[in-house]
Amino acid sequence: MAAWNTGKVVEHKQWNETLHSLYVESEIEPYQAGQFTKIGLEINGVTVGRPYSLVNPPYSQPLEFYYIEVPDGPLTSHLAKLKPGDPILVAPRANGFMILDEVPQARHLWLMATGTGVGPFLSILTSEKPWQRFERVVLVYAVRTLSELSYQERIMHLLAKHAGQFEFIPFISREASDFALSGRIPQAIGDGRLEQRAAIKFSAQDSQVMLCGNPAMVEDTTNLLIERGLKRHRRKDPGQITVENYW
Ligand SMILES: Cc1cc2nc3c(=O)[nH]c(=O)nc-3n(C[C@H](O)[C@H](O)[C@H](O)COP(=O)(O)OP(=O)(O)OC[C@H]3O[C@@H](n4cnc5c(N)ncnc54)[C@H](O)[C@@H]3O)c2cc1C
Ligand SMILES: NC(=O)c1ccc[n+]([C@@H]2O[C@H](COP(=O)([O-])OP(=O)(O)OC[C@H]3O[C@@H](n4cnc5c(N)ncnc54)[C@H](OP(=O)(O)O)[C@@H]3O)[C@@H](O)[C@H]2O)c1
Repeated sequence: MAAWNTGKVVEHKQWNETLHSLYVESEIEPYQAGQFTKIGLEINGVTVGRPYSLVNPPYSQPLEFYYIEVPDGPLTSHLAKLKPGDPILVAPRANGFMILDEVPQARHLWLMATGTGVGPFLSILTSEKPWQRFERVVLVYAVRTLSELSYQERIMHLLAKHAGQFEFIPFISREASDFALSGRIPQAIGDGRLEQRAAIKFSAQDSQVMLCGNPAMVEDTTNLLIERGLKRHRRKDPGQITVENYW
């Protein structure tokens, strides 16, 4: 199997100065919601590739990637210049264990992301599995400013479709807001604001938690949840916390 397929950019949406969604038509092997593949570009004769979560649900085209342009980032500073019609390399096989098939049964599913880490959760939420398996599904989405809270329309659609089962809890850390929680996720677990807003509690018996994005958030949140009696999930030693670090 070839390491790369050549796909075609069909749309490039810019949400604000740094956040983008890239839509690419490319062949890809069947994958599960929550997985990532690699995308790449030839830059000065060298192939530069990085992993990106698939935001679109499985078996759909175009493939959708949500990314932040990192200042002087070796790949993202070039991705940001792509236009419809441009070629892009896509690895044909997706990977990753942040998928619901790896998550044990429980009553409540918590999906907690910072920034672009919301991408794989959008794929999971637009698939049927979470709604069939969990009594309550909570999406916690933490950003610095309101302009970084992308995909509101899609999230509002999910809220309407799954009213009573789905809870959306945004965090905005660097601006005042009348609808989002302030501060950071671990802080709001520590002082009880997150559970109060969700109207459910974390417990080893009832919760499954998936964490994605900033590795410091993943670590701090994991440590707090461990204090609350949850543990990292491993196939051979089932627990309640499944994580993916983006850097
Ligand atoms: C499994 C996996 C899935 C990923 N999925 C995504 C995704 O869907 N969207 C996405 O934007 N990135 C994602 N990343 C990160 C991505 O692979 C690149 O690292 C990132 O796009 C920057 O690429 P770069 O070459 O420009 O800079 P790099 O040299 O790769 O990174 C430079 C620095 O940028 C910062 N950084 C990297 N990624 C992010 C990010 N997402 N948000 C904030 N700061 C960041 C870190 O400080 C990093 O050290 C994922 C990473 C992994 C391991
Ligand atoms: N103009 C620019 O230069 C610019 C603009 C935006 C992004 N960037 C780049 O993008 C990167 C940031 O990406 P991002 O916007 O997704 O930001 P991020 O730093 O991952 O922040 C996203 C959210 O996560 C929170 N967070 C950070 N550390 C945490 C921790 N230990 N525990 C819990 N929550 C935590 C942040 O809160 P806090 O606000 O409290 O940190 C924020 O609410 C930077 O490294 C930079 O390279 C650059």
